[in-house]
Amino acid sequence: MKPVRKAVLPVAGLGTRVLPGAKTTPKEMLNVVDRPILSYIVAEGRAAGIEHFVFVTGRGKGAIEDYFDHHIEMESQLEAKGKTDILADIRSDLPKPGEMSFVRQMAPLGLGHAIWCARDIIGDEPFAIMLPDMLMHAPQRPALAQAMDAYSQVGGNIVVVEPAPEGEAHKYGIVALDGQDGRLNRMTGMVEKPAPGTEPSNLFISGRYILQPEIFKLLADQQKGAGGEIQLTDAMFRLMAIESFHALEYEGTTYDCGDKIGLLRANVAFALQREDLGAAARKAIMELLRI
Ligand code: G1P
Repeated sequence: MKPVRKAVLPVAGLGTRVLPGAKTTPKEMLNVVDRPILSYIVAEGRAAGIEHFVFVTGRGKGAIEDYFDHHIEMESQLEAKGKTDILADIRSDLPKPGEMSFVRQMAPLGLGHAIWCARDIIGDEPFAIMLPDMLMHAPQRPALAQAMDAYSQVGGNIVVVEPAPEGEAHKYGIVALDGQDGRLNRMTGMVEKPAPGTEPSNLFISGRYILQPEIFKLLADQQKGAGGEIQLTDAMFRLMAIESFHALEYEGTTYDCGDKIGLLRANVAFALQREDLGAAARKAIMELLRI
């Protein structure tokens, strides 16, 4: 079994649910407490053993590349002022030389197309996909590391899933399982954005995947699916005819940061859990709620 060393992060989306802020700040760069969402996602990937991150970017996303590079003026000013803690914190997000690649998706043709844009950098090895909107908080063991554990157990392809909120399954990719016994189950099907009432289960694909490179051949067809987009879920469904797929219900909490309330919830939850800020955050929230 080949190890999973690389992760693809599709970051070309417009962020229509968090406009107007996302007009000039890529939605993946919006702050949760004091650092961009992507900072948490990259940390999760590193904790799972990812050695190379491939960002699939688009127009107006230059801030992402800048964030993962030195800011010489800022760093020398912080150094001169002796602000070593802040300096170390800023530098902790910087990549090792060659740890990150950026490839451009030139038109918004769908998630499947975005992943396909990374094919040459991934090559012929299994890889992870991390959807950066989905901030997964799993202090015991990060979500992607849980998916890696599942991968070393059963191999093949792994898709992280979780129960969809009541009445919202039609907004997501939904999986069908061959029975349910524990958190890791063999999949028998999947469908992208099923019509309400036709969902094969309430488990939605929530944003972490481990896939085999054969997916790229299927994505190359560029077949359009739900919403007229090239869907990753459709290509995975076709791959299922020749390779195994398991769905993993990870242990943790997901915040959909591509959504106003999801981003707000993430900010509140992450602030409350911070050692240095938790008490002050709690006080501020209680005051706002007049509790
Ligand atoms: C994408 C995937 C879908 C998944 C969802 C999770 O949809 O196609 O299968 O459930 O992300 O957020 P999108 O949010 O791009 O419509």
